[in-house]
Amino acid sequence: MGDNSISALQDKIRNLLDKRNAILLAHNYQRPEVQDIADFCGDSLDLSMKASETDAEVIVFCGVYFMAETASILCPDKKVLLPISDAGCPMAGMISAGQLRKKKEEMQDDVVVISYVNTTAEVKAESDLCCTSANAVKVADSVDPVFPIFMTPDRNLAQYTIKHTDRKISYWDGYCPFHNNLTVEQAKKVKNAHPGAVFMAHPECQPGVLELADETKSTSGMIAYAANSDQREFIIGTETGILHPLSKANPGKQFFPADPNMICTDMKKTGLIETLKALETMQLEVKVPEDIRIRAKQAVDRMLAI
Ligand code: 13P
Ligand code: SF4
Repeated sequence: MGDNSISALQDKIRNLLDKRNAILLAHNYQRPEVQDIADFCGDSLDLSMKASETDAEVIVFCGVYFMAETASILCPDKKVLLPISDAGCPMAGMISAGQLRKKKEEMQDDVVVISYVNTTAEVKAESDLCCTSANAVKVADSVDPVFPIFMTPDRNLAQYTIKHTDRKISYWDGYCPFHNNLTVEQAKKVKNAHPGAVFMAHPECQPGVLELADETKSTSGMIAYAANSDQREFIIGTETGILHPLSKANPGKQFFPADPNMICTDMKKTGLIETLKALETMQLEVKVPEDIRIRAKQAVDRMLAI
C-alpha cells in the first residue's frame, strides 16, 4: 500500500499537476489540505478570471459543479476536471432553464436577466448578464435604468443589490440553505459574545442579518478586508471553510464563525484522494455543450467586462 499521509498525497498531486500541465483552482470553502496545494484559491469571480487567463492545458476544479462549468464556458479548449461528480450547489438547483424561460415569458419583453454565477450553464444561456457576490451591485448599475432587472436565483443577494442601487429589480425566490440558516438571533448572540469584533457577512445571508453586519463581502472580499484592517477580531458570516485562509493569512488576528453549522456539504466532498484520482484518470471531465456554451459565455463575458 502506498503512503496516503496528507503530505504524501499532496506531493503526488503536485507532481501530477506538473506532469499534466494542469492547474488546481480551489474555492475558499474547500478543505484546508486542498486549499494548501492549490495554484490559486479565491471566490467565484477570482476563479472565473483565473480560469480565463491560464495557459495550462488542464484545470482541476476543487469546488462545485457550476464553477467547473464556468471554467468550461470560458476555456472550451482546456480539459476541466471536477474530482467529485455530485459536488453541486443546492441553490443553483433551485432554478432550471425551463423555469427561467417560463418566467421570462410572464415578464415584460425588455427585462434584463442577471443570473448569479451559482447557476447551471443552461440558466446562464438564458440570461443577459452574470454576476457574483463580489460584483452584483456593479453589474446591476451597468444596466440602463430604463430597463427592469430580474435577478436569479438568490433572493438574499437580490435584496442586498436592491438596497445599493436605484435600478428596478425583481427576483426569483431561491437561497443558499447554509447562509439562509444564519438567523438574526444567532447573529445577535455572537455579536454580544464578541462586542469588539467586526462582523462580516456574505450577501447570501438574510437581509436582517446583513443589517447587523459591519461589512457585507464576497469570500475573497472578506479575506482582503481582514488583511488590510487594524482590527484584531472578526465574526465571519459565511461558510466556515473560509476560516482556514483567514487564519493562515492573519496570524495574531482572531476569527469567530457567526454559526459553526454553516458548512456546505458539497464544498466538503472533495478531498486529496479524490483530487489525486481525478488527475490519474483525467476524470470527471465537465464540458458544456457548444450551443449552450456560446450563449452562456455572452452573459459571463459581459460580467467580466464590467
Ligand atoms: P463567493 O463568490 O463569495 O466565494 O461565494 C460563492 C458561494 O458559493 C457562496 O456560497
Ligand atoms: Fe451553493 Fe451555498 Fe454551497 Fe455556496 S455555500 S456552493 S451557495 S450551497
